[in-house]
Amino acid sequence: MIDERRRFYVTTPIYYVTAKPHLGSLYSTLLADVMARWHRLQGQEVMFLTGTDEHGQKIAQAAEQAGKGPQEFIDALVPSFADAWQKYEIGYTQFIRTSSARHKAGAQAFVKRLLETGDVYKSRYEGWYCTPCETFVLQKDQAISTQGDVNVLLCGSCGRATHFMAEETYFFRLSAYQDKLLAFYQAHPDFITPRERTNEVIAFVKEGLKDLSISRTTVSWGVPFPEDPAHTIYVWTEALCNYITALGYGVPSHEVDVARWWPADLQVLGKDIIRFHAVYWPAMLMAAGMKPPRRLLVHGWIKVNQQKMSKSLGNVVDPLQLYATYGADPVRYYLCRQIPVNQDGDFSIEDLEQRITSDLANDLGNLLNRMILLADKYNVFDLPIITTWSVQSLALRSQAWDMVAQFERHMQACEIHLALASMWRFIHAVNAYFHEKQPWKIAAQDKHAFIEVLSATAHSLRTVAVLLWPVMPSKTHELLASLGHRESCSERTLEDLELGTWHHAFLLKKSEPLFVKPQPQEPEESKEKHVEQTAHIAIEDFAKVELHTGTITLAERVAGSDKLIRLMVDFGPLGERQVLTGMGKAHAPEHFMGKQGIFVTNFKPRKMMGLESQGMLLAADSEEGIPALLMPEARVANGTRIK
Ligand code: MSP
Repeated sequence: MIDERRRFYVTTPIYYVTAKPHLGSLYSTLLADVMARWHRLQGQEVMFLTGTDEHGQKIAQAAEQAGKGPQEFIDALVPSFADAWQKYEIGYTQFIRTSSARHKAGAQAFVKRLLETGDVYKSRYEGWYCTPCETFVLQKDQAISTQGDVNVLLCGSCGRATHFMAEETYFFRLSAYQDKLLAFYQAHPDFITPRERTNEVIAFVKEGLKDLSISRTTVSWGVPFPEDPAHTIYVWTEALCNYITALGYGVPSHEVDVARWWPADLQVLGKDIIRFHAVYWPAMLMAAGMKPPRRLLVHGWIKVNQQKMSKSLGNVVDPLQLYATYGADPVRYYLCRQIPVNQDGDFSIEDLEQRITSDLANDLGNLLNRMILLADKYNVFDLPIITTWSVQSLALRSQAWDMVAQFERHMQACEIHLALASMWRFIHAVNAYFHEKQPWKIAAQDKHAFIEVLSATAHSLRTVAVLLWPVMPSKTHELLASLGHRESCSERTLEDLELGTWHHAFLLKKSEPLFVKPQPQEPEESKEKHVEQTAHIAIEDFAKVELHTGTITLAERVAGSDKLIRLMVDFGPLGERQVLTGMGKAHAPEHFMGKQGIFVTNFKPRKMMGLESQGMLLAADSEEGIPALLMPEARVANGTRIK
């Protein structure tokens, strides 16, 4: 039903390698990955391109500040992109670096082609340039700031100072493409998603297009201009070429690949770089006799407290830290669900944790858990194919069918957040169905009805897992495995779900909870209140904790850990025990030697770094925040119980 073409070519912007990737870079890349997976799910062959933008003044300056040569500087940073993408399971098929020989030759071939068609000519440029944006700033887009007696012209996009530039340059005859572009937008109303942004672009083009400077004599860190090595190709012109140089543009033996994949089906980009992709890039392609891309997905910005993330504001969110705390799939889900693709959205840890707790752990994870727990209790793991369904189950099946159709419609329109919203409405319906049917009550009397409820739930969860695969590739595999379905989503088509028939057997499996609820971090203040409000306990509760005195006879660091120290403790009549303590950052092993401490002795033994700990040494933080050992006032016999 979805798309007749068998191929899908999707790209991300290529990232400036001035720093490691941040959440904004992850966002563009993630959207492309979700769309790539969505098309794989339809059985299409997917080409997914991402990479790094490595030339220009901005990179040269950053390298200089770091005291490195530009190539050395970028070579050190590029692996951090590949690493982040791997952690977040970004399934790109090609990673392009603009410092690669293939890209440089391809970009030169493209500019050469424009020289041949007469759309590039040499003249002189005078105007204002913004290095952070690597762009010429038109007068109407500038803001003026008065600093002392001097007026500084600021870039309208990033608000930083521009500088005056006057130099000989090659121009691209952009002005000649004004009407052609307007005709193109009219003939392709779906070129830009969301459609509202098309109006901005049309208004900009209608104001009149000036020819575009596409070379620099003052920037040496770039690709030499064809036949005029005193110039380098302007970094944006060169960077845009990556979308075709990655296919082999300019290499005769690769013409067939360019013809096979170009025009791209979807180019993902942030709203800040829309002009480059919706105006300059299509015009240059037209000049070279090539088609513009089929569609641009223009997303908003991720903000922190209503401000765009930026290094200077110090509000940059590190995707690797989020990964370490929450894992890839929950963060992927949050970004897709919380931030409407067409708008700016605020990032917050509270929202992220809330989504994990309520949508993932409660709505989805618990549904699976409850089903598996019941299956376990009544020992019914094998769910055969059901041929007759109750009215309520049929109603749920038709809700599933509607949801599949809605989900597909939204995904085709790149409205990922809306697709997920319709899926969660369905998950709520499945929970309601499960609750109403009360399978725990009928398990004993009506086994057939019991199995039917489990089967309807399993069919629903399978539908959810297959459709959710593009957003959460790992968790959906785990979910399918718990249902006894091991199919690889990347090879499946949606046809089965579209038919809406429920004809599967399942073999349920006991499994770990799919999602872990984040533990709320209590602010200091509320921790204090919490202490005041703690409920009283009875003496019997205290008696459950066995506390004994013991003397430390050996203390040594545990290899491979900067925190753990292994203690041997003499508990007198209770014998000698091994206890691990995590105070190794605050104290050296010698600090513990020979001291008599108080230990909890009836905790279940616990393994850390392969060693078993058979007790816990008590300590309390001193005023300086260093743990102080709790010790008896006078020496008492080892193994004395504390009461
Ligand atoms: N190198 C150019 C793109 C050249 S494409 C031929 C560039 N690089 S960038 O690293 O500055 O930005 C790359 C992408 O990250 C853009 O789509 C941009 O919108 C996105 N993001 C950067 N910060 C962002 C947020 N705070 N939020 C969402 N995305 C943003 O521009």
